[in-house]
Amino acid sequence: MNKHTQYRAEVAGTGMYVPVKILSNSDLEKTLDTSDEWIRTRTGICERRIAADDESSSTLATRAGSQALDSAGVAPEEVDLIIVCTSTPDILFPATACFVQKDMGAVNAAAYDISAVCSGFVFGLSVAEQYLKSGRYRHVLVIGSETNSRIVDWTDRSTCILFGDGAGAMLLKRGEGDGAGLLSTHIYSDGEKSGLITVPGGIGRTGISHEAIDAGEYFIKMSGSATFKVAVKRMAEVSREALEFNGLTHDDVDLVVPHQANRRIIDAVTQNLGMPPEKVFMNIEKYGNTSAASIPIAVHEARIEGRIAPGDLTLLSVVGAGLTWGAALIRW
Ligand code: UT7
Repeated sequence: MNKHTQYRAEVAGTGMYVPVKILSNSDLEKTLDTSDEWIRTRTGICERRIAADDESSSTLATRAGSQALDSAGVAPEEVDLIIVCTSTPDILFPATACFVQKDMGAVNAAAYDISAVCSGFVFGLSVAEQYLKSGRYRHVLVIGSETNSRIVDWTDRSTCILFGDGAGAMLLKRGEGDGAGLLSTHIYSDGEKSGLITVPGGIGRTGISHEAIDAGEYFIKMSGSATFKVAVKRMAEVSREALEFNGLTHDDVDLVVPHQANRRIIDAVTQNLGMPPEKVFMNIEKYGNTSAASIPIAVHEARIEGRIAPGDLTLLSVVGAGLTWGAALIRW
């Protein structure tokens, strides 16, 4: 490395893992006052994956991360940093990333978590971008991993139908000169809107109490329609910003990979951007909203399905609790 070298953050590999157990809308019909028809038409979701008892965010992340390394032909010892983006960590601390580091045998990697909820993966990419473009590191593994099934209230039909478990990973490597890679990342937060989606139960604020647990405060609470409106606005706005920053327009984009929160949100955002449906990747029907894992799972599947080719431009766009939102542009 020398101070005059121009570095890039290049995608070296991707991976994903989802639990085997499928929970379908018709399964939910048996325990909730809901219907397959309502869930499909209001969200686009048909089924979601549920972690087994012996699985956790770290075990899902390890499988997705190992696949990303294998696809890149990079050994665990070569990884300099592991960032796990999760809002369902295995335990309060140490970071889930430390368990992943151990389980992968990534003995030379620093490892920590990022908590930006559904936006976590784009926030993680933004961190990786800085380490790679500065020349500090050679390989950064960014993983979004969630076990949302552990923090949803299975009696609350307005939230439990939405979420699923899974993990997606991207290995980024340092490249030199012009060429493919992460063109830019754009991330934002608005703590004024922290109440829109939250698990309100206190840890450091109040300590954990039986009363709070009994009151369901350690489950997800969401103001659905208010979140819907702000999601459309922020995802469209930050996507435009990413394109303008790079002197590009929506015509230059080959594929949009949006956060898979709700098909109607994705339709509204991409219509707002002037993107035709054939340029939008969706897999929400299979997995629901896997929070920080949604974008890396979708990117991996898009690659496997041949929807991303060398030279293509991909736009990632996301919103999540915080409120947080962000976008990234990748040239492959
Ligand atoms: O990933 C982070 C970001 N999260 C999001 O982006 C989620 C954003 N929000 C959403 O996706 C949607 O707001 C929901 C899917 C959560 C809800 O859809 P909606 O069209 O906004 O419905 P709503 O909350 O306005 O509720 C409409 C009706 C209500 O009944 P009434 O009051 O009109 O009688 C709800 O009680 O639908 C009812 N409802 C349901 N009915 C059947 C809510 N959930 C269900 C359900 N099954 N599962």
